Amino acid sequence: MPHAPAGDAHDVVSGIASAFLSGAVNWRDSSLHYNLGAPPTTVSTALYALGLDANVYLINDGLAGRAILAEAAVSRILSELAGVAANEARGLFVFGGTGTIAYSIRCGLAKSTPDLAQDGIDKRSFVAITEEAHFSHARSSRWLGLGDSQILVLPANEDRTTDVDGAIALIDERVAQGGRLATLLVNGGTTYDHGVDDVPRFRGYLEELAAREGWDYRPHLHVDSVIGWEWLFFRGHDFDSTSAFDSRTRVLLREQAELVESALGNADSWGVDFHKGAGCCPIDCSMVMFNDGRDLGYLNGHGRLDEMHQLASELSVASPADHTLETSRAGAKALAALGTLHSLGRDGYQAVLGGLVEAAQRFRAVVAEYPDMQIENTYSRGYQSMVRIFPPELSQSSFRETERKGTGDEQRAFTEAVNAYHRAFVEWDERVRMSRQGPGPYYSFSGRFRVVESGAGLTGLKFYPTSPRLSNAEAEDAARVLADLKAEFDAVDR
Ligand SMILES: Cc1ncc(COP(=O)(O)O)c(C=O)c1O
Repeated sequence: MPHAPAGDAHDVVSGIASAFLSGAVNWRDSSLHYNLGAPPTTVSTALYALGLDANVYLINDGLAGRAILAEAAVSRILSELAGVAANEARGLFVFGGTGTIAYSIRCGLAKSTPDLAQDGIDKRSFVAITEEAHFSHARSSRWLGLGDSQILVLPANEDRTTDVDGAIALIDERVAQGGRLATLLVNGGTTYDHGVDDVPRFRGYLEELAAREGWDYRPHLHVDSVIGWEWLFFRGHDFDSTSAFDSRTRVLLREQAELVESALGNADSWGVDFHKGAGCCPIDCSMVMFNDGRDLGYLNGHGRLDEMHQLASELSVASPADHTLETSRAGAKALAALGTLHSLGRDGYQAVLGGLVEAAQRFRAVVAEYPDMQIENTYSRGYQSMVRIFPPELSQSSFRETERKGTGDEQRAFTEAVNAYHRAFVEWDERVRMSRQGPGPYYSFSGRFRVVESGAGLTGLKFYPTSPRLSNAEAEDAARVLADLKAEFDAVDR
């Protein structure tokens, strides 16, 4: 750090930018299939920057002025997109997708424990999360003070959605032992497969459970839709008279939009990440939506005035800080989200999301042409593809067919050998091409995207494109380049 102030601010900015911005991935690049980030619209980054420059504290209207209304407008647009009663629903910007989860857990704990403010978490309280949950579900539970014995993990089906019958049996068992379910966290678009759980059935079950047990509350039902919300732009869309996407893509978009609509309509709360995938905003830009805005009352420290922000009720009419954990909350994200909704519009969002889903279909079709590569999540309606590649000597093995369900040491050894091959391939590709920005797709790697019956974890190449610039032709080409790279790798001495 220098002693004297810099003479030229421009030199400081350009010096730091050029020294420290290299190496970060470029979300706008169509060859990037790396992970679930978002290429932000320029409108959103401009508004984010303006909001930061004005340093808007999204605490109350006394400090934030009309930025409070930007938050309310985004909340209203989201409730209208989802088809939930806009006058009753209410959303808050929170700290990332993890924040949407933490808020829902807290809300359920307050619903199920009247003495929460006085006594803290009851030993009998538990939350239920799913096997396919993003790790933030367990992490947020722990951060909020729940122990692992208070986190019940519900089983998944073959397609990674949650097995409702299995889930009900487990929750019933825990309740029979005296447990009180605070929050049930289910999926409205999982991280990789974009799977949506059968939320209407879960909702019906929770109502029955509360009645059967004579509870004076119904457990809070949160749907993690931080990715799945993107399909709301297709809710009620007339697919028959649009030729924007191929027929298969239209079917996938329609099915997923219907699943998401029914999931969110049956939820108590749900999450939205504008900073993921087709959300097209800078990080972080997350809103947690409560279909019944009165649920915010469970977040406010139970009327304890000492827990209110010191500026809460002075001079202000609207004071979201009464309900938020964050006392410093940037108003910039509300402006950025609203700006992107207005600049892309419904059609623009549809083009981005539909384009990604269609490109993923094209990519998968080309991968399927090669006998030594396969798509692991063919059932997924989303835009992430998990590719498994097989070394020449194991590609024809009968263990390949039985990799999901087979048991025994030999089966496990097969999977582990194929996993090791993935690692070697990725290390080689990273060394000879990706780290040198060579041509072709820049993908990533999942060491253990699921565990199979033999006890082994499956390793895969993760193709997660998010750039709206990705064309179908480029997506097909990415699969061909992968096959060529694999052939080259197989030919070198490994
Ligand atoms: C389904 C899902 N939920 C929650 C999260 C957590 O979001 P964040 O990383 O913004 O905290 C993620 C992150 O990828 C996710 O995929």
